[in-house]
Amino acid sequence: MKEELPPPTAQPSSRRTSKFSLIVALVLIYGVGLSKHHDLHHPYGLFPQPDDPFRFLPCTRATVPPALDDPDAAATWASRFDPDHENWNWGGPNGDGIFLCGYLDVPLDYTNQSDPRIARLAVTKFQVSGPHGGKSERTLVVNPGGPGGSGTGLVWRATDEFSQRFTNGQYDVLGWDPRGVNTSLPRAACFPFDANRDRWALLRGQYREVAGPGHLELADALNEAIFQACYEQLGDLGRFLSTTFVARDVEEIRKALGEKDLTGYFVSYGTGIGQTWANMFPSSVGRLILDGTEYVRDHRKVGGFGYTALDNATDAWHDGFLGECLHAGPEHCALASPKNGTAGPVRLADLDARMHDLVSSLIHRPIPGYTPSSGPSIITYSALVSSIYGAMYNAVSWPALAQMLSELEDGNTTLAAHFIEAWEYDPRDPASCPSSSSSSRSSPSLSPSTDELTYLVICADSADSPEWLTPDGPQELSWWTSLWESMTNQAWISGNSRFYNVFPCRQFNRFWGQPAELYRGDLNQSLANPILLIAETYDPATPLRNGRRLLTEMGHANARLVVHHGYGHSSRDGSACTDGIARGYLLTGQVPEEGETDCFADERPYLYGVKKRDDPVALWKAHLETLTAFGGRRFGF
Ligand SMILES: *[C@@H]1O[C@H](CO)[C@@H](O)[C@H](O)[C@H]1NC(C)=O
Ligand SMILES: *[C@@H]1O[C@H](CO)[C@@H](O)[C@H](O)[C@H]1NC(C)=O
Ligand SMILES: *[C@@H]1O[C@H](CO)[C@@H](O)[C@H](O)[C@H]1NC(C)=O
Ligand SMILES: *[C@@H]1O[C@H](CO)[C@@H](O)[C@H](O)[C@H]1NC(C)=O
Ligand SMILES: *[C@@H]1O[C@H](CO)[C@@H](O)[C@H](O)[C@H]1NC(C)=O
Ligand SMILES: *[C@@H]1O[C@H](CO)[C@@H](O)[C@H](O)[C@H]1NC(C)=O
Repeated sequence: MKEELPPPTAQPSSRRTSKFSLIVALVLIYGVGLSKHHDLHHPYGLFPQPDDPFRFLPCTRATVPPALDDPDAAATWASRFDPDHENWNWGGPNGDGIFLCGYLDVPLDYTNQSDPRIARLAVTKFQVSGPHGGKSERTLVVNPGGPGGSGTGLVWRATDEFSQRFTNGQYDVLGWDPRGVNTSLPRAACFPFDANRDRWALLRGQYREVAGPGHLELADALNEAIFQACYEQLGDLGRFLSTTFVARDVEEIRKALGEKDLTGYFVSYGTGIGQTWANMFPSSVGRLILDGTEYVRDHRKVGGFGYTALDNATDAWHDGFLGECLHAGPEHCALASPKNGTAGPVRLADLDARMHDLVSSLIHRPIPGYTPSSGPSIITYSALVSSIYGAMYNAVSWPALAQMLSELEDGNTTLAAHFIEAWEYDPRDPASCPSSSSSSRSSPSLSPSTDELTYLVICADSADSPEWLTPDGPQELSWWTSLWESMTNQAWISGNSRFYNVFPCRQFNRFWGQPAELYRGDLNQSLANPILLIAETYDPATPLRNGRRLLTEMGHANARLVVHHGYGHSSRDGSACTDGIARGYLLTGQVPEEGETDCFADERPYLYGVKKRDDPVALWKAHLETLTAFGGRRFGF
């Protein structure tokens, strides 16, 4: 979080007086008490600025969107303006760019003009030119994927990376929390407290290798109860969360920006939003990068979100995690050290067999562990494999994972317990705990996670599949049993976790029937400008094959593909080649001539400047934060 960023360097004094009268006007109109802010000669002027559709205020802890039932949301919002610039959040290379927070109201149901309900989308923008520099010519709109990833969170975490890496610091960066997500309203959270969800996740997410007979009946009943709770709390909201509606929200954001065509960097599931939006609004397409590319047509099939993701997770483990470990050697990877005095370098086949033995030993019996913060701890097969899958997203985590597996193999559970007990949320945060008083939840910094949103979106997107009508189709539990088996047989690392992403869909239609709108057109509409796809050879979530199939459908007039040879989910392992093409495209609109361009990561895993002596627990913690940015949740466990 950027709340601790230093205040800006001193501003020229000429900026200090011109907005004086506007400040006074603000006080008169909105009754903002300035008593504790002594400087009426404030240098930065008035927020929200008139006619700003996002109603941007300099971000502070208070700037989350006002409640939907607030009769005068605009006034409530304006009263959250804190004129004390010491409390604002600054960034960029010189510390004079600013984080602005706002919101945009959109129809909850775009298909029904007589439905007055709205969704209130939280928006955060990093404005490179500072508080009164005005917007950049183009704004880089970013989305982290999920479904369920927070775009406002992404801007806080990664704005410097995006603005510098992709636009030489020239474009503002804007992220939004998609409908249902994080600080957008209504929030699609069906457990009032994260602690309750955590308990259910443990019960529900047993992996097939360890699940007892009949486990799917239990998991399906739990899913039914979760959707029942969603229905009780959120009513028909589940009809309005499809990717198609999210795409309509993107178009509203473009219009609110006042830009003729959209500039964007959408990652992972965000590429599904991007493909859908581009084909619904082809004349609005400007310069859009889709990185970690999925083929959104796959998600029209029941379970497609899961089983089309499996191609390369096992390759990433074998060639990447293990193979690159041996390439980097014992100085960088603990698993490359010969064990028990055996002579000669470790061979890949032997290491693979050893790791297989270690991981599968947990099927028969989990290993007890301990951490001072959690007390008792248990290393289960499901939790360990889930951690391994998460690590395949982000090769920066590999030295830490290798250290942990090496110690576990030697019977030392310390690191394993620390990694696996790491909480998805802060268990000391009152918002996570039912025992605390509910009034604490009104504090804007405390909001429960929205994992249910993930299922509601995935399931909405396949709710009209003809498969539902086939005999022995997905309305039968046996259909899912077979799917579970085939997915885990294809990919032991990702099969279970991906299965649990889609399994709730068996229960979706009985609560919400058909979503209000699902885009079912082709993905080859003639776009105003070609888009740039990036897909990775070892991506554990969005295999290269999917990006290639999308490219084939879109055609040369509408798309180019960068084949990024590297590890991890999206092009995050860094390539001057990939970044150069991306930057050139965002700044000038130029795409490569060729349909496909090969780019290679600059460095190999274990050698990313990580030293073996770096604290593995700290490395792993940073890794988990990266995963949160990608999707806002863990992997099916
Ligand atoms: C449209 O909204 C109105 C007002 O909420 C509601 O009565 C009506 O049933 C809705 N129509 C459809 C088709 O959902
Ligand atoms: C939710 O939004 C807030 C405000 O923008 C942000 O600080 C936080 O990081 C977001 N949560 C996640 C999980 O990204
Ligand atoms: C990824 O999976 C595909 C099968 O869909 C395979 O052809 C390809 O070789 C795999 N890529 C890597 C890098 O192993
Ligand atoms: C090394 O030896 C110890 C003690 O005999 C044993 O517990 C451990 O499993 C061995 N490790 C490997 C990798 O063979
Ligand atoms: C177990 O591993 C931890 C963490 O790496 C280390 O601090 C500790 O000394 C190890 N314990 C033993 C008995 O080797
Ligand atoms: C898109 O592809 C379909 C076949 O899948 C074809 O019928 C249609 O003509 C194509 N549309 C455009 C605009 O190329």
